[in-house]
Amino acid sequence: MSSTEDLEYPHILIQYQNGFLISKVMFAACELGVFDLLKESKENLSSKVIAERLGTSLHGTERLLDACVGLKLLSVEVKEEGAFYGNTEISNLYLTKSSPKSQYHNLMYYSKTIYLCWHYLTDAVREGKNQYERAFGISSNDVFEALYRSEEEMIKFMYGLNAVWSICGRDVIAAFDLSPFTTIYDLGGGAGALAQECVSLYADCTVTIFDLPKVVEIAKKHFISPEERRIMFYEGDFFKDPVPEADLYILARILHDWADEKCVQLLRKVQKACKSGGGVLLIETLLNEDKSGPLESQLYSMNMLVQTEGKERTPKEYNQLLTAAGFKETEIKKTGKLYDAILGRK
Ligand SMILES: C[S@@+](CC[C@H](N)C(=O)[O-])C[C@H]1O[C@@H](n2cnc3c(N)ncnc32)[C@H](O)[C@@H]1O
Repeated sequence: MSSTEDLEYPHILIQYQNGFLISKVMFAACELGVFDLLKESKENLSSKVIAERLGTSLHGTERLLDACVGLKLLSVEVKEEGAFYGNTEISNLYLTKSSPKSQYHNLMYYSKTIYLCWHYLTDAVREGKNQYERAFGISSNDVFEALYRSEEEMIKFMYGLNAVWSICGRDVIAAFDLSPFTTIYDLGGGAGALAQECVSLYADCTVTIFDLPKVVEIAKKHFISPEERRIMFYEGDFFKDPVPEADLYILARILHDWADEKCVQLLRKVQKACKSGGGVLLIETLLNEDKSGPLESQLYSMNMLVQTEGKERTPKEYNQLLTAAGFKETEIKKTGKLYDAILGRK
């Protein structure tokens, strides 16, 4: 229901209309290195110094800095000599590249890839399919062939995926007690952030990252140290190749990429390979049963439309997929953050 205030003056619509302007201000400041510079400098800097150090125009930089102050991403101190800018705590922690909780790579993936696909959202709704062809001139039915169109693009994607686990990886891995499961396969485990959470939380487990050969190659080269003895790799295509036996399979942000039939196909394979007493841990963003929210999950589901052949689902929908594949007891744990966990038992 609209409030009387909104009908007098549509404040909420103006906020929505400006939503992407806000995102772009944050993305541009990250991309230009504003937050990194201010963290390194350890003192507040004037717009002139910031522009000189970043090699940007003075009048463009002044406006960007002021907009960041409006968004509470920067603080400003006005002295006689002029305005001096500094990071706010949240920017220092999440928007600088060097922070362990940095979201920089995720934001760059939003700015450079997702944003371009969303330009064609209307077409995606009309046609019911992803927009890689329009956004990047790639006509492939294989979502990941399109996503992995260059090594640079793959690295960007993998850094972006890892970033979110630095803020909610521990929550999803700790949602259930996984200590009884010692042989774990992370199917589509990508750059391995969740595998690292697993081995750091559970002393007795080994985790094998199962992913496409070119992803495994990059994960080994850029993300997982060879000294990490409890993380291993398995190169394969989980639709075409056999899935090895294990106690637990983690599928984090995997099923949301695919249509129902493919999800059941994959889950059946996992169910057959799973040791008795073992299980599957789905990690996904969950929609309310009546799909009335949460807003993030609704927006992510639209993102799956413009980028993949999948969608975000409700707990009941995941339960139906697990049951169709032969899993018995399923249990859900909500974390209160972006991603939740569902454990299905063989
Ligand atoms: C959305 S990403 C999720 C990555 C990781 N699980 C996470 O949550 O950060 C999907 C992953 O599935 C992998 N993948 C896609 N198709 C695959 C296939 N046919 N066989 C194996 N892995 C696949 C991709 O390479 C990618 O790492």
